[in-house]
Amino acid sequence: MKRFRRYYYDLFSTVYDRVIALHSKDKSARLRRFFIEKSTFGPGLKLLDVCTGTGAVALEAARYSKGAGVVVGVDFSMGMLRVARRKSMGQLFPIFVLSDVTALPFREESFNVVTCSHAMYELDPETRRKALSEFRRVLVRGGRFIMMEHTAPSSPFVRFFYNIRLMTMGSSGNRAFARDERPEIARFFKDVRLELAPGGRSKIVYGKRA
Ligand SMILES: C[S@@+](CC[C@H](N)C(=O)[O-])C[C@H]1O[C@@H](n2cnc3c(N)ncnc32)[C@H](O)[C@@H]1O
Repeated sequence: MKRFRRYYYDLFSTVYDRVIALHSKDKSARLRRFFIEKSTFGPGLKLLDVCTGTGAVALEAARYSKGAGVVVGVDFSMGMLRVARRKSMGQLFPIFVLSDVTALPFREESFNVVTCSHAMYELDPETRRKALSEFRRVLVRGGRFIMMEHTAPSSPFVRFFYNIRLMTMGSSGNRAFARDERPEIARFFKDVRLELAPGGRSKIVYGKRA
């Protein structure tokens, strides 16, 4: 299943940015800026963007810190990373690394912030738990984990496709996680809280490394 998903993203990588732009108009750029502002990232700090895809959040973080903070993006799809690297050509940051989130190639306490946008729902429950444990391991004490996902659509028609995505990309166990991420995140992080992003169509969940 995981291998299938990696192939899927390798193929999808060539059109991913265009599909997102079409789907969200200019809203996703504003959301990403909001997400980074909320992450506590800034100059002198180190941010890891997991499941970075074509690097949208990592690139926004690098712009936000104006090169004065370290930004690293990881993803297991070479196709997605190829697009991300093309977009960041000539910049010092972000650095993009090929890796599965269940085995991050970084030492303990390497980052101040771990971000994850629109990917947690796609990890099956076992992968997600291993990934959360890795995020905690690579965060410094007091460091932040912050994730962003879509809220469940109110229209029954769109909600139908939303549920299909949860089931096909993750598993039925993901529906409970999508309803409320906080209990699971709280097994790995403290001070867990949820906030709706402007517009109400996305939610942000925060946790702090003890
Ligand atoms: C929907 S995309 C989101 C990309 C990006 N974060 C964004 O907001 O546009 C999900 C990404 O997660 C990556 N991914 C899924 N499972 C992964 C895993 N186990 N390890 C690393 N990356 C993974 C996929 O390759 C894909 O690029």
